[in-house]
Amino acid sequence: MPAAAFGTSDFVVVANRLPVDVEKAPDGELIWKESPGGLVTALKPILSARNGAWVGWPGAPDIGDGADDPIPGEDMLLVPVKLSAQEVEEHYEGFSNGSLWPLYHDVIVKPEYHREWWNTYVEVNRRFAEETARVAAEGATVWVQDYQLQLVPKMLRMLRPDVKIGFFLHIPFPPVELFMQMPWRREIIEGILGADLVGFHLPGGAQNFLYLADKLAGYATSRNSIGVRSKFGVVTVGFRSVRVGAFPISIDSAELAATAKLPETRKRARALRKELGDPEKIMLGVDRLDYTKGIDVRLRAIGELYQEGRLDPERHIFVQLATPSRERVESYRAMRDDIELQVGRINGNFGRIGHPAIHYIHRPVPRRELLAFFAASDVMLVTPLRDGMNLVAKEYIACRTDSSGALVLSEFTGAAAELRQAYQCNPHDLEGVKNAIDEAVHQDPEDGKRRIRAMRRQVLQYDVDRWARSFLQTLAGTVDETRA
Ligand code: ADP
Ligand code: F6P
Repeated sequence: MPAAAFGTSDFVVVANRLPVDVEKAPDGELIWKESPGGLVTALKPILSARNGAWVGWPGAPDIGDGADDPIPGEDMLLVPVKLSAQEVEEHYEGFSNGSLWPLYHDVIVKPEYHREWWNTYVEVNRRFAEETARVAAEGATVWVQDYQLQLVPKMLRMLRPDVKIGFFLHIPFPPVELFMQMPWRREIIEGILGADLVGFHLPGGAQNFLYLADKLAGYATSRNSIGVRSKFGVVTVGFRSVRVGAFPISIDSAELAATAKLPETRKRARALRKELGDPEKIMLGVDRLDYTKGIDVRLRAIGELYQEGRLDPERHIFVQLATPSRERVESYRAMRDDIELQVGRINGNFGRIGHPAIHYIHRPVPRRELLAFFAASDVMLVTPLRDGMNLVAKEYIACRTDSSGALVLSEFTGAAAELRQAYQCNPHDLEGVKNAIDEAVHQDPEDGKRRIRAMRRQVLQYDVDRWARSFLQTLAGTVDETRA
């Protein structure tokens, strides 16, 4: 990489995935589709508005030269980092989703640590850093996203000391005792500290990171307690100061609310209720099929509530929309089998011909259709065992434009810190989850409205634009740090 080869983009997002995934048709033509997950949902509107560049993997291995052509239909520069099948296996499926993902999500599944995976993680992070260094204009702002790219800030700083670097972690940062398992713990902390600003969803994650910067890397750190979008921590890395803060991510709430209100969305919501047999109450789950999401927890709870007669499968039905995710990782395959077994069992016990108690779809649902589901459903079930934020909870609230509905929400999501009026539950306590679902289904409508209104105020005020602005203004050094 020649030192002075500056690019032309003043604002660059670097994320493992591009906002579109490629698929190769049998005739070799490349087909682009929106890629899954909360990160893309959150960042796409921001980049479209800023005319920036997005550096990321196109979502399929070995795609060849076709992806060098401009990628169609996007109002930003998309810069593909092409990965070989082996790199996908060892960087994405291996180190990112077999080591880091379970470690950062409370070791719900046992993390595996393999030196080959780590070596490829380093190599792929280097490729992302090099590609970013190529497209960033002199003095550009570069925003590196998430756990797949924790070494990029340091690598990029070495290549391009002129750029301003932000790093945001979209998943939980784990408790210190768990992070200490990581064989390459110091390298990861040092990698992230290449940034000028490091952001987490919650103050607790930021606080854990500060402690580790001192303990593992020996840097001086501030001792203050970190606030939300305020009271940032500081790590002194040589002559640089790295700021550390909490910036809870959100959604494009106003846009979602406006779309949910459209006559065609309402019409589709009514049609969905009809297609589902006009039940008294529809409960809904919407997730990537991931073991962190607690889909099994809510299925078990619903099965027992039917069994105990507290819910009636004729009147109270459950719809689970599950986007396929990381299907080559063994723990994901095992979980899919388990969930589908449970769905089959509950329907076998409580459904009848033409009237299942549980409707299960293992496909991504188009955005408009998803909003119609939110608008049609009386109770949203969000029961992760651990989740950095959970945007689905906020999306549901934004779509409840008439203030009806209810949200059952796990305490172990980042969203629980903001959505205090949800029916909160501990997903490890099955009786507690059952009680929360029972209460939400049978809530007093006026009490329900008060709860939804309060949560809507929070979600509409703290939207994704505010998240990005608070992070980027802090990165630019133009925010008043004393403001809460
Ligand atoms: P994660 O980032 O772990 O996938 P989030 O809840 O934060 O979880 O974000 C998930 C995003 O993906 C949301 O915008 C949600 O609407 C979308 N999504 C999840 N499941 C589906 C589905 N079955 N069909 C369509 N979109 C989905
Ligand atoms: O929010 C966490 C995250 O891993 C994002 O980085 C990612 O875009 C999303 O979930 C979906 O995961 P994946 O890219 O592995 O399909």
